Amino acid sequence: MSKSFEKREGWIWMNGQFIPWQNATSHIISQGLHYASAVFEGERAYNGKIFKSEEHTKRLFKSAEIIGINIPFTEDEINEAKNELIRKMNYKDCYVRPLAWRGGDQMGISTNNSNINVAIAVWDDWASYFKIEDRKAGLRLITSPWKRPAPDTAPYQAKASGPYIICTMSKEFAEQKGFHDALMLDYRGYVAEGTGANIFFIKNNDIHTPIPDCFLNGITRQAVIKMAMEQGFKITERHILPEEINNYDEAFLTGTAAEITPISSIDDVKFTTGGNTTTFKFMGDFSEMVNKSS
Ligand SMILES: Cc1ncc(COP(=O)(O)O)c(C=O)c1O
Repeated sequence: MSKSFEKREGWIWMNGQFIPWQNATSHIISQGLHYASAVFEGERAYNGKIFKSEEHTKRLFKSAEIIGINIPFTEDEINEAKNELIRKMNYKDCYVRPLAWRGGDQMGISTNNSNINVAIAVWDDWASYFKIEDRKAGLRLITSPWKRPAPDTAPYQAKASGPYIICTMSKEFAEQKGFHDALMLDYRGYVAEGTGANIFFIKNNDIHTPIPDCFLNGITRQAVIKMAMEQGFKITERHILPEEINNYDEAFLTGTAAEITPISSIDDVKFTTGGNTTTFKFMGDFSEMVNKSS
């Protein structure tokens, strides 16, 4: 078990200042905690440089705008703070977590007098979000009983804390049954994504992935689509029914934390994994790409 995140050492950037890690606390009376009135980002630095840092900051501001949070800093200030924090923590490869949340100036659902807090933390022990041996063998997924809601039910383009409880419950469901992760369907019953990552399927030279019309169109997803297209693969974004999954040879997840992670099975459907797969090749290509861009 890694050291509790609350008990670590180092620095956290909070509301414009670098403060010692253990002092970066927030009062229990806060709208962020009670009503999940918060948005966040998940980013990775390779060789000291964040992959697609500006895109992540733009998404943070867009997420905030969607849920009505006005971040009291500029995008440039957040970009600079992220870089400075990585330097102060002496990290080369690390995970970066910006967060903006409504504080405790006001309680209740109204936001008329809410105050906004912004913080950034970085850590270097998420080298792999899934255990390295699990990534090598491929993950076993089970379909979650929880579904991604309709676009007029939850703000799907915002990386907002509230909707993450669906992911948390799905992940817990999967882990309690001995699986690594859950496949989430959407409100119509189409295949949507993993609990913290997007999903792709491969058959020969064809790559299929669900249309991101009710879940996050991941920054990694977009980078992988571009990379695969440049390599001559045909990418189709379409609505995929769960019963179609067994037509594919390979499947993988993409996300900042998951990077590219092969899937070995979803429920009873098995996929090919290992050194001769397209997924394995993509993992190498992706690693080269993120390291080159830094
Ligand atoms: C629910 C969910 N879907 C997809 C993604 C992938 O997004 P990205 O590639 O931008 O990290 C994430 C990770 O942030 C996620 O939490």
